[in-house]
Amino acid sequence: MEDRIEVLFSEKEIDERIRELAAQLSRDYEGKEITIICILKGATFFACELAKRLEVPARIEFMRCSSYGDETESSREVKILLDLDNPIKDRDVLVVEDIIDTGRTMKTLLEVLKNRGASSVKLCALLDKPDRREVEVHADYIGFTIPDKFVVGYGLDYAQKYRTLPYIGEVIV
Ligand code: IMP
Ligand code: MG
Repeated sequence: MEDRIEVLFSEKEIDERIRELAAQLSRDYEGKEITIICILKGATFFACELAKRLEVPARIEFMRCSSYGDETESSREVKILLDLDNPIKDRDVLVVEDIIDTGRTMKTLLEVLKNRGASSVKLCALLDKPDRREVEVHADYIGFTIPDKFVVGYGLDYAQKYRTLPYIGEVIV
C-alpha cells in the first residue's frame, strides 16, 4: 500500500534554504575549520548538500543514535549505535541533524560531545518541530520550522521508506 504524501518543501525551496545556511555558516566560522558530525541516516542528504557549499574548510564525521525503529513514536532512551572514529578535542563541532522533535536525541548527544572537550559544539537541523518538544534543546541553525506533522523525504523516513524523495512531504494517513 502506498501512502499519500503532500509536498511541504520542494527540492528548489530546500536547495535555496541550504544555500542561505551555508552562507551564514561560512560567515560565522570564518577563519575556522568545521568538524561536521552528520547524524545517520536521516541527515545525510542535508549534510552533503550543506557541506559542499561551505566556503570554510570542513571535515565530515558520522554518528548514529538509536531511533524510533519503525514507529512514529519517540522511544525514551537514546543510545549511541555508531560512534566517531576521530577525537573531537579542541575542534569546532557542528552537529547536522535531520529534525528536532522531542529534543531527546540532541539533548543527549550534545552533552556527550561537549564532555569530549570540543572547542565549540553547535547544532544545525534541517527541520524543527517545536510543538513536540519534551526537553529543551538550543538549535543554532534551523532550515525550516514546521508544525506537528510527520514528514518524510530528503533523508527522513517512515519505517525506512521515502528517504530518497528529493522533497519534504507530509505522510497523509
Ligand atoms: P527526538 O529525539 O524526538 O528529537 O527525535 C529526533 C529523531 O526522530 C529524528 O532524528 C528523526 O529520526 C525522528 N523523527 C522525528 N520526527 C520525524 C518526522 O516527522 N519524520 C521522520 N523522522 C522523524
Ligand atoms: Mg534521525
